[in-house]
Amino acid sequence: MKILITGAGGQIGHDLIGALVAAGHDLTSTDLAPRPPSHAHAGGTWHRLDVTDAVAVRDLFYEVQPELVFHLAAILSARGEQDPKLAYDVNQTGTWNVLEACRKGKVARLVFTSSIAVFGPTPSGPLPDPTPDDVPLHPTTMYGVTKVSGELLCSYYRQRHGVDCRGVRFPGLISAAMPGGGSSDYALFMYVDAVRKGGYEAFARADTRIPLMYMPDAVRALLELAFAARGRLSRAIYNIAAFSPRADQIASSVQRVVPDAKFSYSPDPARQAILDSWPKSLDDSAARRDWAWQPKYDLDGMTDDLIPRIKRMLELGAILSSH
Ligand code: SER
Repeated sequence: MKILITGAGGQIGHDLIGALVAAGHDLTSTDLAPRPPSHAHAGGTWHRLDVTDAVAVRDLFYEVQPELVFHLAAILSARGEQDPKLAYDVNQTGTWNVLEACRKGKVARLVFTSSIAVFGPTPSGPLPDPTPDDVPLHPTTMYGVTKVSGELLCSYYRQRHGVDCRGVRFPGLISAAMPGGGSSDYALFMYVDAVRKGGYEAFARADTRIPLMYMPDAVRALLELAFAARGRLSRAIYNIAAFSPRADQIASSVQRVVPDAKFSYSPDPARQAILDSWPKSLDDSAARRDWAWQPKYDLDGMTDDLIPRIKRMLELGAILSSH
């Protein structure tokens, strides 16, 4: 199938490209940036594309004529608070441009990537734990505001224009590829820095608890939702969940495999406030019911798989960026 990805240079793109190429799809990866060295062997073609440029998006969609688009391009929560205008342009205008290009280019199906950042404390109190799909959405970040809007636009284009837009609300995602400007990044660095530096000073409190997921499950969720029959989907956007450990439980899990790793906690007020506004865990029963979603990895299963991968990538020099 002819597939196009936006924001392919990011953390999700790294693994999604590999999965799509391995499955034999005809893949066009797009990003504002040139193909990063960590994606060098990923396969498929690479196009520079700024999703805020409506004409460029439309022209590329006309040229490629994808049957399926994964829209990953976004500025994440912490970076978005430093530059809200950029987050608005990329996440809001970019999503509009992609939806319009799908409508005009008659792209059959679009997968939108939403996030736990759509949630925030409601006027009537804290979020239920676990948090279901349908609660009042009161995001506290520009990233979250634009993801709520993206979800609504996705449903609107689905009903109004027949663009079969569907999406997941991702937990914080953990993999061996570097993230960019998220508030959930502490969890990933507990792994990467335990291996490369012998420990990590987290920017979150030890009792911080948010939904997290290992990237192979996240990529599988995107693929399963993308290829689910439309008639099975009772909604456009789905919570998906895997596990919700406290930060110090992640530390204990890592120390099972890297016994000398040292962890300390020095909360950054801005990012901690964002983390505290998110759900502690998600209710993903609709995804389980409609398209048989099920995570494979729990916390220790992820730890056992991920740490050897990080070691291999460090040996190969594939993890280059620092934080
Ligand atoms: N991982 C994202 C962030 O931290 C949340 O979706 O911004």
